[in-house]
Amino acid sequence: MSFLLTDKRILLGVSGGIAAYKAADWTRRLRKEGAVVTVMMTRAAQNFVTPLTFAALSGNRVHTAMFAPEDAEAMPHINLGRNCDMILLAPATANTIARLAQGLADDLTSAVILAAQAKVLVCPAMNSAMYQHPATQANLARLKEFGYTVIDPACGELACGDQGPGRLADWEIVRQEIIAVLTPQDLRGQKVLVTAGPTWEPLDPVRLLTNRSSGKMGYALAAAARRRGAQVVLVSGPGSITPPAGVEVLPVVSAQEMHAAVSQRGPEMDVMIMAAAVSDYRPARYEARKIKKGTPDAALALAANPDILRELGERKKTARCFPLLVGFAAESNDHLEEGRRKLAAKNLDLIAINDISAEDAGFAVDNNRVTLLDRNGAVEELPLLTKEEVAHRILNTILRLI
Ligand code: CTP
Repeated sequence: MSFLLTDKRILLGVSGGIAAYKAADWTRRLRKEGAVVTVMMTRAAQNFVTPLTFAALSGNRVHTAMFAPEDAEAMPHINLGRNCDMILLAPATANTIARLAQGLADDLTSAVILAAQAKVLVCPAMNSAMYQHPATQANLARLKEFGYTVIDPACGELACGDQGPGRLADWEIVRQEIIAVLTPQDLRGQKVLVTAGPTWEPLDPVRLLTNRSSGKMGYALAAAARRRGAQVVLVSGPGSITPPAGVEVLPVVSAQEMHAAVSQRGPEMDVMIMAAAVSDYRPARYEARKIKKGTPDAALALAANPDILRELGERKKTARCFPLLVGFAAESNDHLEEGRRKLAAKNLDLIAINDISAEDAGFAVDNNRVTLLDRNGAVEELPLLTKEEVAHRILNTILRLI
């Protein structure tokens, strides 16, 4: 179960294009994530999908008329826009976009949007010639001036057989925008450093010591903090995840490099979240040439890496002002005791304890089950959630501790 959209009231405006069927699917998806969806349709939209479809999928009455007798006192053209957290216009046809750009209010959808105070997200979908026409482009520019967010349509084959821009944007992109619109900017002004991923400890030019961390949890934290307005530095070990937009990425390879990057950027931070799975050891000696086989009982000598978090915790003891320190612990048993011990030993403000015994959570998967333990002894056991949601829960707790 998601919580990012839980109880968010989304007013979906559907105008008359073939992509209206996709809006029906989006209604279902939004509801599945806990959003309360109310739909209003233009007259043209009803030629593509019936109001009944949207009523069934949204679980709410669908609004189609400005002057419906049953709504005589409700003034839907004012109240629909007032009683929602945001308006999603999808698909937005060239005609509806033109009406909004002109400030017309000659049907329910345009009147509601004209009267609304809520944020408006516009998802154009139309034939590419219509989309690229200077009139449509000028209208879209005007909508942006009004403060509406316009999500560019995707390129590809259109219902009419043409190729080009005009396809309704992909759901995942739109979903991210919806979350961005609905996410409070409660970390604005905060500088947050996140470490993520594994480290690589080279033994020779072809071999290394590492672990199974994918970096997903750290990247999710960086993305969520950024989305909530923080200035984010992501110190990332090797991995294949695309960094979130708007985040400063410092790529590192070994624990020693991570240590150097964190030491350098740490002092300017307000919050430091150490989500990296740092190698505790590295090969004691790096062989510049590839090691040949042949020795029957080869042994590998190891040297201890700096414990970056412990060192920060030590410095925190004597510093007058220090960033809030958040650590992770990967535990297969005695989670809480181990977490408590590490929180105290490393002088942390918060620790997120990962249960690595569960198969559905932890390393390299999209979900995580963590227990949060703070410096005041408060314990919060989170259910199995996506890493994106876990990230927001951790940030909520951080905000309480700041
Ligand atoms: N950490 C670090 N530098 C290290 C090792 C760990 O900064 N050299 C950080 C990790 O990013 C994480 C936390 O410390 O936030 C994990 O602490 P650690 O004691 O290493 O936990 P485990 O790896 O779970 O420890 P152990 O193997 O002893 O259970």
